[in-house]
Amino acid sequence: DKGLKLYDPGYLNTAPVRSTISYIDGDEGILRYRGYPIEELAQKSTYMEVAYLISKLIHVSVVYGNLPSENQLLDWEFAVSQHSAVPQGVLDIIHSMPHDAHPMGVLVNAMSALSVHHPDANPALRGLDVYNSKQVRDKQIARIIGKITTIAAAIYLRMAGRPPVLPSNQLSYTENFLYMLDSLGNRSYKPNPRLSRALDIIFILHAEHEMNCSTSAVRHLASSGVDVYTAVAGAVGALYGPLHGGANEAVLKMLSEIGTVDKIPEFIDGVKAKKRKLSGFGHRVYKNYDPRAKVLKRLAEEVFSIVGRDPLIEVAVALEKVALSDEFFIRRKLYPNVDFYSGLIYRAMGFPPEYFTILFAIPRMAGYLAHWRESLDDPDTKIMRPQQVYVGEWLRHYAPIKERT
Ligand code: SDX
Repeated sequence: DKGLKLYDPGYLNTAPVRSTISYIDGDEGILRYRGYPIEELAQKSTYMEVAYLISKLIHVSVVYGNLPSENQLLDWEFAVSQHSAVPQGVLDIIHSMPHDAHPMGVLVNAMSALSVHHPDANPALRGLDVYNSKQVRDKQIARIIGKITTIAAAIYLRMAGRPPVLPSNQLSYTENFLYMLDSLGNRSYKPNPRLSRALDIIFILHAEHEMNCSTSAVRHLASSGVDVYTAVAGAVGALYGPLHGGANEAVLKMLSEIGTVDKIPEFIDGVKAKKRKLSGFGHRVYKNYDPRAKVLKRLAEEVFSIVGRDPLIEVAVALEKVALSDEFFIRRKLYPNVDFYSGLIYRAMGFPPEYFTILFAIPRMAGYLAHWRESLDDPDTKIMRPQQVYVGEWLRHYAPIKERT
């Protein structure tokens, strides 16, 4: 076929990416971060530990990522906390946006604005050892993980017409995020520890997921040599999509549209007639129950026991039951994914639906940064250029406009 001009695969790097960060078995419904089962990490670890596990380089060995020792964890939490302040120019950009702008659209702007506020993003530095040093990369990772919660909180407060609140370095990572959202600047405010723990578990579940759409966007941009802030801003753009991170917001809209359990059969008929998707169901890789959804389904009950039961949970549980017993979904191996229950938890915690994907973006920074670092450290990484097969007109010649029909 003339249209298929094959170049040296190395040039097109069409070979699968080799990674040590996370492992998914879609048929068995398995997810592990550097060998640790997600269920164990959700039950026993914290997001700060998991972000270290995923994104930190161990100085003395080539092994990337172990759970930190006590001292390593203290150093890491201090470094992240030290970087939680955000340049005023970035806060000004957030404040300049319409108060009803979609938060993810604001986040794309804020993350790319970080690029112009940090000299290490300067292309002139890119070729120098200083840019390629491990210390600079460690700092960039701590900087983005530290700043993303402050930026996300400033976006939330902007939506409410309130000024940003400075981060507290007396609280844990997730507590500090909730403090900035809810304290109204009252420095003695402490978030509900059970809600902080629930959100920390949700952050663990969303931290990393192999070569999903937005993480591969980071690798794509990073392969051009662009700075890490701009590469991550591109990933946030991909995550914004309703088929990806935006699905948690779409799930809430879907459940609210169905409204009551008796309306489920009519809705399912619409899905089977291909009039719409069942948001929160299906996955590129999982052809079994998403292990994260199992943890979230249990966590929803914990959150409801604190803040009250959301009536839409009955619709969600009934919808899942109907779908899992229907031939249309069984044949297509469609199961609940991470987004099916997360939206209900976020709503119960008082977040508006349009803010849900921000809560996905915050923890996923660890995964983006781990893949960014892994691609830079891989000597075989080349600029990304996916292969195409040309199927258009083969050869034509220019005709003067008078002769065109
Ligand atoms: C995330 O990749 C990751 O890791 C992503 C993520 C992460 O952590 O980063 O896990 C997060 O993005 C989870 C997915 C969130 N998205 C949604 O919940 C949106 C609804 N889901 C679908 O749009 C869909 O399932 C996708 C986009 C997630 C996957 O799309 P695929 O790979 O094209 O689905 P498929 O090949 O398995 O589809 C097989 C069939 C098709 O029908 P037929 O052509 O065979 O008749 O199933 C149908 C699809 O149309 N199908 C659905 C469906 N998902 C697939 N039909 C109805 N509702 C759905 N949700």
